[in-house]
Amino acid sequence: MSEANSRSIVSNQPSLHEKLDEIVNKHLVAEFKKPIAAHTQHAFDEVNARVQAFNGPIILDSCCGVGESTANLAKLHPNALVIGIDKSSHRLNKHDVEYKQSESGQYILVQADLNDFWRLAVDAKWQPTHHYLLYPNPWPKAKHVQRRWHGAAVFPFIVKLGGCLEVRSNWDIYVKEFARALQLAGYPVPVTAYHSDTAITPFERKYWASGQSSMRLVVQLP
Ligand SMILES: C[S@@+](CC[C@H](N)C(=O)[O-])C[C@H]1O[C@@H](n2cnc3c(N)ncnc32)[C@H](O)[C@@H]1O
Repeated sequence: MSEANSRSIVSNQPSLHEKLDEIVNKHLVAEFKKPIAAHTQHAFDEVNARVQAFNGPIILDSCCGVGESTANLAKLHPNALVIGIDKSSHRLNKHDVEYKQSESGQYILVQADLNDFWRLAVDAKWQPTHHYLLYPNPWPKAKHVQRRWHGAAVFPFIVKLGGCLEVRSNWDIYVKEFARALQLAGYPVPVTAYHSDTAITPFERKYWASGQSSMRLVVQLP
């Protein structure tokens, strides 16, 4: 498939999901008790040792895919340790040599399920200065709203992690819903169009090459 023919989002949902507030409010007060998977615990323990030993800012690149953004963010934040997390070993294994550590910046790629990883990071008192969530799976069918990160039980942990959270998507409703969820959690934030001369992830590049645009939110969480 050529880069320039990514289909735009097709959804049966014309605006914010009608049950969004109910779902988010439920998650904001409920306890998320699902057991942590052993493989994510193991992956977390390894990276946690690096984080605890590191004397500088920690940055998360959640849903990093092939990790191209992780390498780019490491260049952008040369004093930080950037941690790219994705559940797909297939994607992570495609991390190309050309993205690898350059003269500036350092990063680690971790295969883990964020439903567990974010909870472990909160428990371990990580305090990332920045948290990037770039082009998460949109799950555009209305019935899949709880698979979107703001509709998921783990959402309160994204908030608790803190730092400067940036979410980008090619589906405006995704970012608007995320902003609404943040507002319900006490952090109102505007949603704006985003463009740049340089795409920092493969999905971003693919969307822009096929004429789609990006929306984003950036919010400073405590
Ligand atoms: C649409 S891709 C975007 C990848 C990358 N951010 C980019 O822009 O090129 C979404 C990514 O989220 C990852 N993902 C989805 N659910 C996840 C989960 N529960 N834990 C970790 N990663 C997940 C997928 O494996 C996939 O690589």
